[in-house]
Amino acid sequence: MLPAGPPLQLLRLLSCVTVILLVQVTSAKRDLKKACNTCQQVTDNFNKGFERTANQNFGGGNTAWEERTLAKYETSEIRLMEILEGVCDSSSFECNRMLEEHEDHFETWWFKRKTKHPDLHKWFCIDTIKTCCPNGTYGPDCKACVGGSEWPCHGNGQCDGDGTRGGDGKCSCDDAYKGDSCLDCIDGYFNEVRNDTFSLCTVCHTSCKTCAGATNQDCDECKDGWEDDDQEACVDVNECSADASPCGEEKYCVNTDGSYSCAACDGVCSGCTGAGADKCRACAGGYEDTEGTCTDIDECSQPEPVCTEEHEQCVNTKGSHVCSCASGYEEQEGECVPTLHPEKEEESEASGATTDGPHEEL
Ligand SMILES: *[C@@H]1O[C@H](CO)[C@@H](O)[C@H](O)[C@H]1NC(C)=O
Ligand SMILES: *[C@@H]1O[C@H](CO)[C@@H](O)[C@H](O)[C@H]1NC(C)=O
Repeated sequence: MLPAGPPLQLLRLLSCVTVILLVQVTSAKRDLKKACNTCQQVTDNFNKGFERTANQNFGGGNTAWEERTLAKYETSEIRLMEILEGVCDSSSFECNRMLEEHEDHFETWWFKRKTKHPDLHKWFCIDTIKTCCPNGTYGPDCKACVGGSEWPCHGNGQCDGDGTRGGDGKCSCDDAYKGDSCLDCIDGYFNEVRNDTFSLCTVCHTSCKTCAGATNQDCDECKDGWEDDDQEACVDVNECSADASPCGEEKYCVNTDGSYSCAACDGVCSGCTGAGADKCRACAGGYEDTEGTCTDIDECSQPEPVCTEEHEQCVNTKGSHVCSCASGYEEQEGECVPTLHPEKEEESEASGATTDGPHEEL
């Protein structure tokens, strides 16, 4: 018997709580990245609005009055309001919420901080509301990414949460790179340059699975379809030179670098060594070898006639022939009999029927 209920229920409860906590932690991290993106969007659009309003209220004239009005407008509350109005799409909930929540900050920056801290993103997103971090850093305390903030992931990857208060700073490496700090090369690439802080991975020769250099002599291991030759280089395996063709009877083999392909023989062949009527091993039925090329046999011009019924005519076709009734005769129950109705009559009857009738679709 199992022990009484409570311990089991407690375990279930605990595991539920754990799952909920984990979900909350991951979604909180995602939210932190999102909040920074929203802030970036807010400050980007603010800067755009700032440029857009740069020449507003300026008639193009040059009067002293206009210059004075312009100077006033440049730093005015009215201009700030006009900029703020254009920052968020009405549909963007996150953007509008951030703007409403921090409207005071924008006023403060506009009137008191702008001169000393001209970079709004840095002042607002990073230093004031702390939803972003400087580039190359991540997380609540803006820790440097792997590889350092100057050169995150050593320039070969993306640092998780880079520039935000979220993420864990781990690198997802670009193509060709691997490892915690993206200094190692994936299989098929080799380190052309490498020290503790810098790595350049270059693609191996196409014949190598792994390598230490760029040529087919630098392979550590040959790729499938390639083999070591007597000079320790990886060379193509010619699959087509094997005694038994890998392509079967009615196809021929084409060797390619690292592989091979099979292509269908010409229709006039029965087996072949390549493309065309002159590469047949033997000719297909109805064809004969004429100076090395398989050509159609004209059954109709054989000394012995092949269509022997009365009023039959012979028509040669590619690889064969047909026997049909001669003109003026039609086939009835296996015999050629004179045609009763000339075709013209039938045609005019048929066309009359379709043009007279209503537009019916059958
Ligand atoms: C920070 O990174 C972003 C995105 O890569 C870039 O657009 C921006 O110019 C960078 N800022 C600085 C100060 O380097
Ligand atoms: C590593 O290599 C790079 C590129 O060749 C070079 O700029 C850098 O100074 C090197 N660093 C060290 C520590 O040797």
